[in-house]
Amino acid sequence: MSNLTVHRQVFQINDLNLWYGEHHALKSINFPINKKEVTAIIGPSGCGKSTFIKTLNLMINYVPNVRMKGEINYNGQNILNDKMDLVELRKNVGMVFQKGNPFPQSIFDNIAYGPRIHGIKRKTHLEDIVTKSLMDVALWDEVKDRLDAPALGLSGGQQQRLCIARALATKPDVLLMDEPTSALDPISTLKIEQLILELKEKYTIVIVTHNMQQASRVSDQTAFFLMGELIELDDTSKIFSNPKDDRTEGYITGRFG
Ligand SMILES: Nc1ncnc2c1ncn2[C@@H]1O[C@H](COP(=O)(O)OP(=O)(O)OP(=O)(O)O)[C@@H](O)[C@H]1O
Ligand SMILES: [Mg+2]
Repeated sequence: MSNLTVHRQVFQINDLNLWYGEHHALKSINFPINKKEVTAIIGPSGCGKSTFIKTLNLMINYVPNVRMKGEINYNGQNILNDKMDLVELRKNVGMVFQKGNPFPQSIFDNIAYGPRIHGIKRKTHLEDIVTKSLMDVALWDEVKDRLDAPALGLSGGQQQRLCIARALATKPDVLLMDEPTSALDPISTLKIEQLILELKEKYTIVIVTHNMQQASRVSDQTAFFLMGELIELDDTSKIFSNPKDDRTEGYITGRFG
């Protein structure tokens, strides 16, 4: 592998297998994830999309009876190696879930949460981070006059952007998103998609989605999973115009799944 290739990849997953107890949920996954690109993961319910994305910052470790084998190389370091600093890993590889899950605190405190954990105390510094993070997700204008109001009082779409801002506040380099718009209306969905396209200038993004149009609008490469296997991974335009595998074609044309 040339140096150039190594530098383009934030993650290189080699022969990753995962079991929940006896259930073999990820089977020999080989998956490069490129820097400052959007990678979409598609596939029918239960195929392992959430499982896979949760391995990338080892959130999967919270699930009991999980066993993994293989390599997840993040910037050249195998994170399945037990010397990994998990706090540091999750600062660098942030995650946003299907439903915005703000803490029952003010808008300000939600975003300042991560930076505070990482030792930032000075009020002006926290204010700068909160302002910048809210601007990055195009939420600043909507909330700047009520930063002390409860985050749970925001609309669903605003809560989701707040959660993205919260993930950005610790300056990650990768952002994982598991169906970030599935609970949102079309306008909020388009806002998040627009945001993803802007964020990829600075961040590497991995997004799980059931929405084929969304995958084709926002992503550079698309991975199709089926029953724990990575069936096909290619440029998004290829996956949606000329997939190599019949099963990929069957899924994207709606013949199954
Ligand atoms: N905590 C768990 N314990 C045991 N089995 C699990 C657990 N979480 C997921 N599984 C199983 O692993 C497989 C993959 O689940 P996963 O949640 O990754 O699917 P998914 O592709 O994200 O599906 P969806 O599109 O419905 O979100 C499924 O068979 C599921 O039942
Ligand atoms: Mg899922």
